[in-house]
Amino acid sequence: MTSPTRETGTHPVVAIDGPAGSGKSTLSRALAARLGIERLDTGAMYRSVAWAALRDQIDPSDLEAVAGVAQNLTIEVGDRVVADGTDITEAIRGPEVSAAVSAVAANPAVRAVMVERQRSWVALRGGGVVEGRDIASVVLPDADLKLYLTASPEVRAARRSEEGAEAVARRDRLDSTRAASPLEVADGAWVIDTGSNSVEQIVEEVLTWL
Ligand code: DC
Repeated sequence: MTSPTRETGTHPVVAIDGPAGSGKSTLSRALAARLGIERLDTGAMYRSVAWAALRDQIDPSDLEAVAGVAQNLTIEVGDRVVADGTDITEAIRGPEVSAAVSAVAANPAVRAVMVERQRSWVALRGGGVVEGRDIASVVLPDADLKLYLTASPEVRAARRSEEGAEAVARRDRLDSTRAASPLEVADGAWVIDTGSNSVEQIVEEVLTWL
């Protein structure tokens, strides 16, 4: 199905936002596979910057130093996540990076670098499924489809059981209350509770909105 506003030969642009454990990865993977387009996990980009700050023994709340790290870091996010040539797919899911990432993501200079790279990623491919916290509100406000995922605190904590309910709640609080591009429901976004239906059911419904 082609949106009337989309240029010929381009793919749809799908923006997916929501808190930790809301089901963004699962739904974005399923949608990208179904549409035959690529997916970008922008959380992995912020996690990569947090990983590199820790690698360089930089305090994650040192705004200037972490901005420098973000500018100079090469990040490839696909099936694996590779930063400065090191495969950090597993490392960025560890407790140290999870604890440091909210401070890194609250840094406006880091966000400016990441937003630019995310827009270039989409432009290069002529579309894609992009998931994060500020995708529909800031990165791709003209996306063809904007989704905001939710789930009850119990469901989300169970999905992120390795991180722990308290750590997840702390990260969500920081991500939603920060000054720079906080997590919020963007104008025109469809709100979906991913705890009530199967992934297949959600994909089918969402495709009718595109
Ligand atoms: O989706 P995730 O849990 O892997 O994201 C890691 C952190 O990165 C999360 O705590 C908030 C931040 N983030 C962000 O601020 N903006 C995005 N577009 C994606 C993630």
